[in-house]
Amino acid sequence: MAPVVSGFSKLSKTDKIKWLAEHHFNNDQNTIDTLVNYWNSDNGLQQLHDEFTENTISNYYLPFSVAPNFLINGKRYTLPMTIEESSVVAAASKAAKFWQTRGGFKAEVLSTTKVGQVHFTYTGDLKKLHQFFTKIKPRLFTSVSSITQNMEKRGGGVKDIELKNKTSEIDNYYQLHCTFETVDAMGANFINSCLEQFAKTLQFEAKKYDDFSNHEKEIEIIMSILSNYVPQCLVKASVTCKVEELPSTSLLSSHLYAKKFIRAVRIAEVEPYRAVTHNKGIMNGIDAVVLATGNDFRAIEAGAHAYAAKDGKYKSLTHAEIKDNQFIFSIEIPLALGTVGGLTSLHPLVKLALQLLGKPDAKKLMKITAVAGLAQNFAAINSLITTGIQQGHMKMHLMNILNQFKATNTEKEHLIKYFKTNAVTHSDVVTQIEKLRA
Ligand code: MEV
Repeated sequence: MAPVVSGFSKLSKTDKIKWLAEHHFNNDQNTIDTLVNYWNSDNGLQQLHDEFTENTISNYYLPFSVAPNFLINGKRYTLPMTIEESSVVAAASKAAKFWQTRGGFKAEVLSTTKVGQVHFTYTGDLKKLHQFFTKIKPRLFTSVSSITQNMEKRGGGVKDIELKNKTSEIDNYYQLHCTFETVDAMGANFINSCLEQFAKTLQFEAKKYDDFSNHEKEIEIIMSILSNYVPQCLVKASVTCKVEELPSTSLLSSHLYAKKFIRAVRIAEVEPYRAVTHNKGIMNGIDAVVLATGNDFRAIEAGAHAYAAKDGKYKSLTHAEIKDNQFIFSIEIPLALGTVGGLTSLHPLVKLALQLLGKPDAKKLMKITAVAGLAQNFAAINSLITTGIQQGHMKMHLMNILNQFKATNTEKEHLIKYFKTNAVTHSDVVTQIEKLRA
């Protein structure tokens, strides 16, 4: 077991690695080399990455890929996607290509409001608390004017502050439920700074409020924090085409395809076990764009899944139907994304990803990202109701298996050719490698 270490964060990067090698890897030189091999030779760039977070000892690469041919609201985009999973980018590209000849994707932002809360305890008369809140509400707004000044210039700021009585759930529990517009910023720092100031003002004003008794003056702040549940920061994307324009084979007409597709989505609307996997596939596309554009994928994930459960049951984020012989497939998802602040101007690849998208504002990025999710879901359902998922997946996974067995370029060439006409299974790849090497 490694000993307790103090002052670790103050060690140099080399000394951190030495400590790690000594206490976790038997001073193995290979371990040290692996970590050092992933350092960037450009010291400035490396330092930038080191300073994104604490105790950085190396870099962890993920592929930076692109998916072309996305026609969104009449404009063509090439989407940046950061993801390790085989076949996600290929699936997105395939869906984009399919829909670009059928009018492309339509997307619209439905709302952009974000929420933050000051959670506090008040023991006393409810009517007095309401009167107090009404009186100090303007003061809450003015107390954050230095924080909101710049945001207001950009069209954002604090939209409203409400007092919420939550005492039916927890004794003496109340909230300042605050709504914000953060324009092109994800806005976490802005919202949290405002909330912490609201909390201070609330406590300060309570102490001075003559109508409160002594114990009523003692408001206890439990915490002040933004919410990643953003059902009012919502975007919708859709595709539509005549039923006859859907894929068809000799075994499955486009009409039957549409019926099967809609049934597959319907299953994800009623069956949570399926819905989670269905939505996971959507998040394959969404997270990849969110990561590439330097946004917080954990926040996006949390918000999306909470939204999927908003009716008290976890459900599909996409919907499909036929109306007047038109097949309509859509997604509605909360996406609190930013295109300024955070990593957006710091990480060179994030900057490049945003440039690739034509430097979008937050609303445009919301639309593009929702489309990535819809496209991914279309591709997944398309495979699931026709060939099954493994055919495409294993084709893309072939390279991972070959790399696992340290296949040479010549071996790879030979085996890729072989598996063009043979089903890829892990065991057959191993057999074929062994055959080649024998
Ligand atoms: C795999 O990462 C995602 C899928 O399972 C999604 C789905 O089943 O819809 C293919």
